[in-house]
Amino acid sequence: GTARDLDGRHVVVSAGGTREPIDPVRFLGNRSSGLQGVEIARAARKRGARVTLVAASVGVDVSDLDPGSLVEVETTAELRSAVRSAGGDADVIVMAAAVADFRPAGTAASKIKKSAGAPPPTIELVENPDILAELSAERLRPGQVVVGFAAETGDADGDVLEHGRAKARRKGADLLAINAVGDGVGFGVAENAVTIVDRDGETVSTGQGTKRAVAEALLDAVVSRLAR
Ligand code: C5P
Repeated sequence: GTARDLDGRHVVVSAGGTREPIDPVRFLGNRSSGLQGVEIARAARKRGARVTLVAASVGVDVSDLDPGSLVEVETTAELRSAVRSAGGDADVIVMAAAVADFRPAGTAASKIKKSAGAPPPTIELVENPDILAELSAERLRPGQVVVGFAAETGDADGDVLEHGRAKARRKGADLLAINAVGDGVGFGVAENAVTIVDRDGETVSTGQGTKRAVAEALLDAVVSRLAR
């Protein structure tokens, strides 16, 4: 990409994975390392943007980023309010975090214990708000470019891309980066491959290689949206 093509822009990136407490010591979580989102934050910074990184239990070193630009969160509710407050003046919001679709309906006040003869406890789940869909519908700022990720696994119902294209149409983000997870790609590894689609599910571009290379490809697509 062209150097400094995000000069003067504010880019908000969420990264990592949210954790939903079950009791004081346990949570529902996921395998996202946060590296893809962190690479987007780094690349945006290099291209001249002011960056806010909303980090949900990110497992990679972010000490190279300005501490003032980092907001650490744990739950989906915390991530939502951090993204919404930083996003009010953002030109771009990239939702790279793996956000829990469900959370326990309640958090036990003390550690859940097993008791002899009693059946295992049941954890009731409730749905979390879809932050990306909300941001896409509302637009915290006119002209804001909203970007999401869709980590898909191929299965008998159809292929990764078709699931992703349907998700793009459902969520309404300007851009959605579809990536296949599992089999050594995606979560927890350095390499990634994405197909970037628009809100109609049409392919805009592709990116592959290191997560840094994927970040640059995504920002190229973002910059061409901003120029419209
Ligand atoms: O539906 P799915 O979880 O696959 O969608 C992934 C995209 O939606 C990611 O960009 C993620 O950050 C975002 N998301 C969200 N709020 C949720 C679930 C996912 O913003 N509750």
